Amino acid sequence: MIHTIGVIGGGQLGRMFALGAKPMGYDVIVLDPQERSPGGQVADDQIVAAYDDIAAIEELGRRSDVVTYEFENIAIDSVRHLEKLGYRVAPSSDVLRVTQNRLLEKRFVRDCAIPTTGFASINTEADLERAAEELGFPGVLKTSEGGYDGKGQWRVYDLSEARAVLAEAGAAPLIYERLVMFERELSVIATRDAKNEIVTYPVCENEHRDGILAMTIVPARIPDEIAARAQMMAAKLGDRLGIVGTYCVEFFLTAASELLVNEIAPRPHNSGHYTIDATRCSQYEQHLRAICALPLSPPHLFSNAIMMNVLGTGTGDRLHGTSELLADPSIVLHLYGKKHAVKGRKMGHFTMLLDGPVDDTSIARAKAAHAMLRWTK
Ligand SMILES: Nc1ncnc2c1ncn2[C@@H]1O[C@H](COP(=O)(O)OP(=O)(O)O)[C@@H](O)[C@H]1O
Ligand SMILES: [Mg+2]
Repeated sequence: MIHTIGVIGGGQLGRMFALGAKPMGYDVIVLDPQERSPGGQVADDQIVAAYDDIAAIEELGRRSDVVTYEFENIAIDSVRHLEKLGYRVAPSSDVLRVTQNRLLEKRFVRDCAIPTTGFASINTEADLERAAEELGFPGVLKTSEGGYDGKGQWRVYDLSEARAVLAEAGAAPLIYERLVMFERELSVIATRDAKNEIVTYPVCENEHRDGILAMTIVPARIPDEIAARAQMMAAKLGDRLGIVGTYCVEFFLTAASELLVNEIAPRPHNSGHYTIDATRCSQYEQHLRAICALPLSPPHLFSNAIMMNVLGTGTGDRLHGTSELLADPSIVLHLYGKKHAVKGRKMGHFTMLLDGPVDDTSIARAKAAHAMLRWTK
């Protein structure tokens, strides 16, 4: 019987996971270096320690019946160590290894015969010259590991710009990708359990600003055929990865209706926040079900939804406009309990539940609602 779940990482995803686990009676322990982290505030307990603090990781393993993680930029050795000691971790370190490294991830996707952006491994100037010749410009150089929310990425328009980035990156291994002129960005949230049951949520349409997710629209405004293809690709990738838990596959949809995989997140995802308010079983509860060997719940959308992130702007830590925002009964607000609204930091989100279709009017309504919010000192 699983009673206690350990979560490495106490950010907003750890917090929403804990909030999803409590109604079913589980105890949740979060490990995060920051005291009273967003996850720690709602969990039963928090171990305050670095993600690679082996003694603390061991304590988490000892006190938990199963350990999971809320993001992929954690030390692989921490997860391997827990597995060696015989503790249950889901998803496994093998899944983490592939999905935390953009190069291994793209090779894996290609080996599954699923299209990705053209890419190349970059360690030297010679690699760069070869990539420039094979793939051309413009492109994006990304650190192979450690990036998130557009961090660790540089758009480059010619070889001299690319060389400058390489010099700046120092010894960090990079990946070069051709810049895709996509029509839309899409994502599929899916959950797989140990019996290879897989459920996929409706396809999300995502709008990013400065590399950070700004808005998710569900269902995506795409033909059924493309939605079905994206869901099939996501299921195939989950199956081939052998992942246990909720995961997300991000896609670029091109003008030629081609779907290119951008990346895979081995965890609940920002674009799946809407599942808390708009579906019968959230991506977090679904993750819980998978890692606790409970039956998965076929995703059921109660209403169309638009999710908008509330980011810090660096202009202060006090949020204004929530009362105007909540005058609209179709809006559900989530705030993460973060102290400082640093520019670009994910402070919260809201989901607008729609009676009708997702169209220009409803998108404009969501954007107008978002514009009511502001941060001051
Ligand atoms: N090869 C690419 N072509 C076009 N846009 C890209 C490319 N790579 C990244 N982007 C843009 O930057 C965003 C963030 O990049 P991504 O690779 O998903 O990294 P992360 O989400 O981990 O920061 C993407 O959602 C997309 O908007
Ligand atoms: Mg991404």
